[in-house]
Amino acid sequence: MRIGINGTRRELTVPARELLLDTLRDRLGLTGAKRSCDVQVCGTCTVLVDGEPVSSCTYLTCDADGREVLTIEGFARSDEFAQFERAFVDRAALQCGFCTPGFMLTLKALRDAGELRDRDDVIAGLDGNVCRCTGYKSIVEAAEALAGEPAPAAAEARAGGAAASGSRDAA
Ligand code: FES
Ligand code: FES
Repeated sequence: MRIGINGTRRELTVPARELLLDTLRDRLGLTGAKRSCDVQVCGTCTVLVDGEPVSSCTYLTCDADGREVLTIEGFARSDEFAQFERAFVDRAALQCGFCTPGFMLTLKALRDAGELRDRDDVIAGLDGNVCRCTGYKSIVEAAEALAGEPAPAAAEARAGGAAASGSRDAA
C-alpha cells in the first residue's frame, strides 16, 4: 500500500491487522504518538488521517492506504507548530509531555475545521484527550489562546488579501 506520511509517500507491506500506531512507532520510528489505554479512550495515540483525528491504537494501517497521515513529527516542522509550542510553553500546559502530541494534533484538526472558536469548543473538542499531569486548566488556556489566533498560513492569506484590496483601492 502507499501512504503519505508527513508529506512523503511511503510504500509499505504490513499484515492486514496491523495497527497504525504500531506501523508508525515500530516500522517507521515515529514515536510521538503514544500507546496508553489502547481502547480509543485517552487520545495519546492521536494522529491526523486526511486531516481528521484518529486513534491510531485502533485504526488499521491498511485503512490509511492512499491517504495522508500527519504525526507530531511532521507537524513539528511547520510554522504553525511554533505557535502551538509557544501557547503550551507560555502557560506551562504540559508536564511529562506524554499526552501533548495528541492534544496538539486534536487542536490543529479542530482549528483547521473552523471548530475551535471559544472555550466551549475547546472543552467539547478535547473531550477525548486525557492528561494525567496538568489538571487541564493550563491546557484549556493554551487552547483558548490558539482559538483566538489564525494559523500562520491563514494570517498570511489575510494579509495578502488586505494588500491586494489596498492596491485595488489605490488604483
Ligand atoms: S492509546 Fe489510543 S486512545 Fe488511548
Ligand atoms: S503532561 Fe503528563 S500526561 Fe499530560
